[in-house]
Amino acid sequence: MKRTAIINANLFTPQGSAAFRGEEMGRLLHIGGAQIEVADGAIEYVGPSRALPDACDVIDAGGAAVLPGFVDSHTHLVFGGMRPQEFMWRMRGDSYMSIMERGGGIASTTKATREASFSHLRDKALGYVEKMRQMGVTTIEAKSGYGLDRETEIRQMEVAASLGPGVVSTFLGAHALPAEYAGRADEYIDFLIAEMLPAAKPLAANCDIFCEKGVFSIEQSCRLLLAARDMGFGAKIHADEIVCTGGAELAAEIGALSADHLLHVSEAGIKALADSPTVATLLPITAFALKEEYAPARSLIDAGAAVALASDFNPGSCFSYSVPLMIALACIHMGMSIEEVISALTINGAAALGMADSIGSVEVGKKADIIILDTDDINMLPYHTGINLVKRTLLHTDL
Ligand code: NIG
Ligand code: FE
Repeated sequence: MKRTAIINANLFTPQGSAAFRGEEMGRLLHIGGAQIEVADGAIEYVGPSRALPDACDVIDAGGAAVLPGFVDSHTHLVFGGMRPQEFMWRMRGDSYMSIMERGGGIASTTKATREASFSHLRDKALGYVEKMRQMGVTTIEAKSGYGLDRETEIRQMEVAASLGPGVVSTFLGAHALPAEYAGRADEYIDFLIAEMLPAAKPLAANCDIFCEKGVFSIEQSCRLLLAARDMGFGAKIHADEIVCTGGAELAAEIGALSADHLLHVSEAGIKALADSPTVATLLPITAFALKEEYAPARSLIDAGAAVALASDFNPGSCFSYSVPLMIALACIHMGMSIEEVISALTINGAAALGMADSIGSVEVGKKADIIILDTDDINMLPYHTGINLVKRTLLHTDL
């Protein structure tokens, strides 16, 4: 058995196997001078310093802040092509939806992804994963949704599966209506339910849909996600991103794992999320890049909801997976405390993936996904704005 001990850790961690809600998000366990012992990747001891076990590797944190690894619970990691021209059009004033309506956006990435080989997609995604690891991300969700056909959707999820144990797929076949189904959205949902969900089941734990005006309706989202839920998928929804359609309320009603984006969530949607276990996953870099108002993190937390933060990394609305930028935007523009941000990036991200029983906190029995900062003070994370302060990312598979 391989044993590792992390000593002299200034540990900050949420606790438990469920999302932190409301004011609980501000309550991290803090142990100064902590010792964490790991056996074959599983945490076996967390507490004050004590005699070291025999024959163990020692990692001396030197008093630095130690946190659970970050969970990026919303990314579109695997895709062909790039869309820098669209970014410049948006900066000039074009809207995200107007670019999508004239055949750009998701349709353009779908064309490039259909044409890309497995190894091309894999090499590209692996490059991003390595950079995300340097910023402390130990678990990465990767959505499909740039194939919109059987073969390419499967290829995207197989690429994700090849990227390592910390990368988990979500099936997003309902990301947009493919040209082949123009004007036949209900038939496309039928195809996803009858053919794609069974094909995706071995590759993805969760199923997502872009519920948006002009994309998929509340009824279509409900139909797909209930079918997915019956097959054992966790449900996730791109909800109330561009306009308010009631996606948050639907997520709460069907017991979705998460409602994501929520830039235009209604008061009723906030209340529905506060009264349900569904995690409100907020994606501040997307709001920043689209020059939209940020999601109402404060109202959600104050109402008692569980808020997660994630990057939404994708080639369109948000070509960034910068954790330092996400932390800065959440603290500076969304009114979140650094403790709330840490809960949002760890236990709540894990809960948004249905994984809070195994990752998201530094506790006995959980996987040892742990990061060491190069400061002892967690307040440095937003204060040293936009700078990566993660010195070391430890994956349970390496310990
Ligand atoms: O979460 N809104 C839908 N999906 C992505 C954008 C995908 C794209 O533009 O390629 C999002 O913002
Ligand atoms: Fe997204």
